[in-house]
Amino acid sequence: MGLAKTITDGYKDHVAEVQQRWEKALQAEGYDAVLIHAGSKLASFLDDYEYPFRCNPHLLWWAPLTSQHDSALLVRPGHRPKLYYYQPDDYWYLPPADPDSWWANEFEVVPVRDIEAWKQAGINTQTAYIGDAASLAESVGAEQLNPTRLVNRIHLERTRKTAYEIACIAEAARLGAIAHTAAEQGFREGLSEYDIHQRYCMSIQLVDAELPYGNIVALNDHGAVLHYQAHEQTVPAEVRSFLIDAGATVHGYASDITRTYAAGTGEFADLISAMNSMELKVCDSVKAGTDYRDLHLHAHADIAGILKDFNIINSSVESAVESGLSAVFYPHGLGHYLGLQTHDVAGLIADADGTPIPRPDGHPFLRLTRKLEAGNVLTIEPGLYFIEPLLRKWRENGDVAAINWDKVEELAPFGGVRIEDNIVVTDGEPLNLTRGAFAAI
Ligand code: GLY
Ligand code: MN
Ligand code: MN
Repeated sequence: MGLAKTITDGYKDHVAEVQQRWEKALQAEGYDAVLIHAGSKLASFLDDYEYPFRCNPHLLWWAPLTSQHDSALLVRPGHRPKLYYYQPDDYWYLPPADPDSWWANEFEVVPVRDIEAWKQAGINTQTAYIGDAASLAESVGAEQLNPTRLVNRIHLERTRKTAYEIACIAEAARLGAIAHTAAEQGFREGLSEYDIHQRYCMSIQLVDAELPYGNIVALNDHGAVLHYQAHEQTVPAEVRSFLIDAGATVHGYASDITRTYAAGTGEFADLISAMNSMELKVCDSVKAGTDYRDLHLHAHADIAGILKDFNIINSSVESAVESGLSAVFYPHGLGHYLGLQTHDVAGLIADADGTPIPRPDGHPFLRLTRKLEAGNVLTIEPGLYFIEPLLRKWRENGDVAAINWDKVEELAPFGGVRIEDNIVVTDGEPLNLTRGAFAAI
């Protein structure tokens, strides 16, 4: 599977493929049509300011309408999809620009000024409606709104990315690698978390609301807070380490990248290096047919091995995985599907009924349990952290002697290590978009 030469080159085929997958799903579930609503802007309680708009990913699958709230798409088998393109006469906010031909040529575009113009399609019991806008719920029957089996079917379809989608994610990875490089430079210069975050955004000219998720910019022990959200403006007296988990978006598609750096040489730098080798080994083993749960469990054994090599734990690798000791240091899943959503859909279901594919016992946070298929895009993101509340719990309830507490005390001020790459699954060698993007800089 090659990358599309450019994103726009692959777009026409993408739309044809999405049309075909929707037609199959509609037929299987007994619907004549589907109307996909972008969503409306959401104001905060008792105020007239709105949360940043996030478009319905089902609409983004069709077209790059990341900021076009209240647009809607009517899809009928055998017809060109019809886009009610909401373009209000507004002077409070800038209305959406006229549609760009590279994507608009694939649709029958109907520019509309009225927020409810999508109702021109006719409310029909044979139509399914996909979206979260209150206007939808008021107008259509509950059984037609986001029908579970239909949505599951489409979610499963969305796990196999087209060339256009892979090109978008690759471009998001390229931007992410540029911004990560700028952020590392900021860390080396001794900037605060806040300033590093600004460097990151500035280097790729994105504002916070355009990032796929809140940047995790963590100096020192903040790296042990898995979704650390503060951006401290003061620089710590001693800067030891830096963990950054941050991505970018292109036409709604996300990259999700983590790197960890040490300020100097020493044991923590060696730990990063060991984790990096281990992460690369897992990335290289990704291929169609593999059960992601096996990758996750192997990663636990590998991390237990690293914990032992660094004299952080005293027990055997097998017993560290068995007893839950490895999960004290590595308490999250190996990764997840990636696409229009950072944690993309259908990672845990087997079929249109939504039959769950169970997580392994003792691994409640794993987000992907499926057997991998060519065209899946996913993350590999093993981590090893010194997390005070989890260590305390082990000290109170676990085998205290299994942990070398002196070593933990030595390394805890560095926070932890996570390294995260974005991988395309193929029938042969996996395609590591993130490593490719960093190498190209
Ligand atoms: N940045 C969120 C995650 O890695 O899953
Ligand atoms: Mn991440
Ligand atoms: Mn991730």
